[in-house]
Amino acid sequence: MKIEKKYYRTIWLENHSDIMVINQTKLPYFFEIEKLSTGDDAFFAIKDMIVRGAPLIGITAAYGVYLYAKEIIGSSNFTEDLRILAEKLKSARPTAVNLSWAVDKQLELISVDKPKDMIIKDLLESAEIMADEDVEINKAIGKNGLELIQEIHNKKGKVNILTHCNAGWFATVDYGTATAPIYLANEAGLDLHVWVDETRPRNQGSKLTAYELLHEGISHSVIADNTGGHLMQNGMVDMVIVGCDRVAANGDVCNKIGTYLKALAAYDNNIPFYVAMPKSTLDMTLASGKDIPIEEREEAELKFFAGLAEGKETEVLVMPEGSNALNYGFDVTPAKYVTGIITEDGIVKPCRDELEKLQTR
Ligand code: MRU
Repeated sequence: MKIEKKYYRTIWLENHSDIMVINQTKLPYFFEIEKLSTGDDAFFAIKDMIVRGAPLIGITAAYGVYLYAKEIIGSSNFTEDLRILAEKLKSARPTAVNLSWAVDKQLELISVDKPKDMIIKDLLESAEIMADEDVEINKAIGKNGLELIQEIHNKKGKVNILTHCNAGWFATVDYGTATAPIYLANEAGLDLHVWVDETRPRNQGSKLTAYELLHEGISHSVIADNTGGHLMQNGMVDMVIVGCDRVAANGDVCNKIGTYLKALAAYDNNIPFYVAMPKSTLDMTLASGKDIPIEEREEAELKFFAGLAEGKETEVLVMPEGSNALNYGFDVTPAKYVTGIITEDGIVKPCRDELEKLQTR
């Protein structure tokens, strides 16, 4: 994606050893780049949501294993210590399965029979490959999803798309998953409008998705989280496309809290509800969405609203100080409400048979 005419990925290697990321907690007000020099830098970047979004969490963790390996090169228990640190990375956030998927891929490269410097070289190379592949995967998701948008466009001449959270460029290395079809549709000159759920409490929709769409010149409106149902009832939404953090073997989809309610409203109004999913987000080890661990985050995220006042970042209390708050980060949309899953290999139905076939492709 281009910011001020310069092309960026969300994560990249600099000076052959430093990992650079865009600090997403500063957006949309400030575009700041952070250097991750240590494994713990990567761990906290994920935990504190400097980087977020399932695919990007995975890639950051892959680089994190490399950073830890460099740090502990002097260790006499190198492989064992590295495995422990890799497990620590996996624990940074619980819901997005891409995190353990990426770390497990890195763990395959660690062996006592290999010289340490070779392991470090392989870990970096593999993280770089994962990052490049993420871009290609998202482009493929984009092409497959574009066909769906095109179909509606052919019938109606304009397409209104609702999306939740940020499954965009910022959630991946580039293009995004749910946004990739939107970006390609825009490039193809289709008339689009995107309804952007603000996505309380962290506002990934109003802060990140809106930022991306604005920079891409795509017509969009930010809506309060509870507005989607009303728009659907009034014929103002033609399709929903969301991302996902983990999809279980039966096609249940875990995504940012609030996704389920949008799926229910879409179902009630006969509006297609699509989930963009790279195969790395599929977890065939879990029979259903009931088994997906749901992240519970700090009360403070709900109690305080973070924004900009007079050019400075600030937080304001938005409820009685003494009230308790409950802050689940994700929910599960049962497969029956999902029209289709857009993957890099094509669009599949949310059911075990089709997901199993996908896994072996
Ligand atoms: O808590 P976040 O911001 O990491 O949650 C992100 C989402 O729920 C995204 O929609 C999901 O990861 C898909 S990203 C391609």
